[in-house]
Amino acid sequence: MRVRVLGSAAGGGFPQWNCGCPNCSGLRNGSIKARPRTQAQVAVSPDPSRWFLLNASPDLRQQILATPELSVISSSLGPPISTILLTSADVDSVLGLLHLREFQPLRIYSTLSVRRALTEENSLFRILSRSNPPVQWETLSLDRIIPLAPPSSPGAKDGLFCKAVPLLGSFPDYVSDSLKRNFPPEEAVIGLQLVQKDKRFFYAPSVPGLGESSQHSVDESDLALLDGTFWKDDELIQAKRSRKTARDMGHLPLWGERSMLRLPFRLGKTKRVLIHINNTNPILNEESAEHRAVREAGWEIAYDGMEFNL
Ligand code: MLT
Ligand code: MN
Ligand code: ZN
Repeated sequence: MRVRVLGSAAGGGFPQWNCGCPNCSGLRNGSIKARPRTQAQVAVSPDPSRWFLLNASPDLRQQILATPELSVISSSLGPPISTILLTSADVDSVLGLLHLREFQPLRIYSTLSVRRALTEENSLFRILSRSNPPVQWETLSLDRIIPLAPPSSPGAKDGLFCKAVPLLGSFPDYVSDSLKRNFPPEEAVIGLQLVQKDKRFFYAPSVPGLGESSQHSVDESDLALLDGTFWKDDELIQAKRSRKTARDMGHLPLWGERSMLRLPFRLGKTKRVLIHINNTNPILNEESAEHRAVREAGWEIAYDGMEFNL
């Protein structure tokens, strides 16, 4: 399985157009050592002809164009992308679906409530139905392993499977109260565990919380790309960009009590990588103490173009 990071920043990207924080200013004027990043997007390939998108970022068009493996080789083969898996109904996770709207038949996996939020409460997404055949929605049930792609040849054991892992989050603000009342909150934010043969990859760009069973899903994976949005719980309050804490926004901060860096992950097997990094997060500055602390704690920091082969 190939795992390619097309974008590694949180909503807004890095630098963010309206932000003058030390990171964004420092990147613009070249006074800090840091890389620009587009908004979080990952693509996974079980074999050279097929790619699965994990979420659909607001930068998706530009990210596809920057990745030759994702482009159309000939009109008879069609695009190597036909399937998208969604971890939430957040704007950052779904806006890119509109970039894929060019009469292309697509298959989208999500929990039932995420699908309802998009198709019944946001009529704009109905544009995906104008392809022939129209978009095909598939339901992700929590904690159940389902097949995504058959093996590349009959009898081979290299098919791709997926499990949706609930992460104790809540629905985005724009979702109606009636949908919030009628659907289990566990469906709001999920992690995706992708399995091919004996290899496992866990993807969770938003981690509101990790219970015992979701932590087990991380620990049994060979690679985990996890929420690195904020360094501190009050990061956006201090930067005067919001009144909300990281936890209010559905992100475990990296540092402090009961934070991501303090979680008792089993050390050894799992390569742990931070993704969905907000422009205010000091770990983006490669010469900062926070960057060093994360590296010393055994984590890697995702960048656009990073790739893993499992
Ligand atoms: C989020 O997921 O909460 C956003 O990406 C954060 C942001 O837009 O700064
Ligand atoms: Mn986000
Ligand atoms: Zn900024």
